[in-house]
Amino acid sequence: MDLTDRPRRLRRDGVRDLVSETSLAPSDFVAPVFVDATTDERVPIESMPGHERVPVDEAVSRVEEVRETGVEAVMLFGIPAGKDAEGSRAWANDGVVQEATRRITAETDAYVVTDVCLCEYTEHGHCGIVEDGAETDADLTVDNDATLPLLERIAVSHARAGADMVAPSGMMDGMVGAIREALDEDGHANVPIMSYAAKYESAFYGPFRDAADGAPAFGDRRHYQMDPANRREAVREVALDVEQGADVLMVKPALPYLDVVSDVRRRFDHPVAAYNVSGEYAMLHAAAENGWLDLDAVARESLLSIKRAGADVVVTYFAEDVARAL
Ligand code: PBG
Repeated sequence: MDLTDRPRRLRRDGVRDLVSETSLAPSDFVAPVFVDATTDERVPIESMPGHERVPVDEAVSRVEEVRETGVEAVMLFGIPAGKDAEGSRAWANDGVVQEATRRITAETDAYVVTDVCLCEYTEHGHCGIVEDGAETDADLTVDNDATLPLLERIAVSHARAGADMVAPSGMMDGMVGAIREALDEDGHANVPIMSYAAKYESAFYGPFRDAADGAPAFGDRRHYQMDPANRREAVREVALDVEQGADVLMVKPALPYLDVVSDVRRRFDHPVAAYNVSGEYAMLHAAAENGWLDLDAVARESLLSIKRAGADVVVTYFAEDVARAL
């Protein structure tokens, strides 16, 4: 036997941690929080065990629970009191995210990231203004340029309420540049933008759409979110957001798109975020409930893999559970 290279030498306890290439810490995670203006009690989200929609009055206590696990950053999603064609509750000064942000930043030290999008606020559930006459899937068009001023208003209203960072997720062309300019003009030059730079039209968002009540009433999002078949296009998408001033580059979903996370890591020096989405969470829970998977172990392995692929930041519904276990 003439084996000189024996990688197994470094797999023994005592040395394996020393040579480990990737680690997880609570400071890597952002925990999504759903704030719901239509309820005055916490409502469990069935397809996302352990998660709830909380009323504005409970936003602070919900964030304190997150902070107790060591996770310091939250991403806020809002379920508004009412919806209309434009999604005007999205930029209302007394809107659900604005109100929650004001309270959370006044009463806790959490780092508050807000989702900047229209789909939870429009009657039709799309991420922008739907062009007149579109009532069927075939003729649906979300008007890119008409949507940009609305995204600017949302981002500015979040920053005025005290948001530490804004995260536009609507996949409109030019959204990062438009929001950057609007924030700067309103005196928020120090509020960074985490762009959902490569966001795919994914079936893994299913449980989130229940949670945030943001499913499209007709049609789908394939005209604005990316085609799951495309890898090179993601690099182009991300490059455009970099040119427009994005501070953090997000890939979404995470696990089915680790090739994209890895590409973005190698091609850009900006911090990279990956969104471990609702379906990635729900499927592990469903398998664990059947006794088919060890939930803690697969949750941890998932987050470790996302970091190994190159993410610095992981937005995940597992944030609290994994942070507690670390
Ligand atoms: C809003 C938005 C979505 C998610 C985050 N922001 C839904 C969508 O694009 O349909 C999905 C998050 C998840 O599945 O966990 N545009």
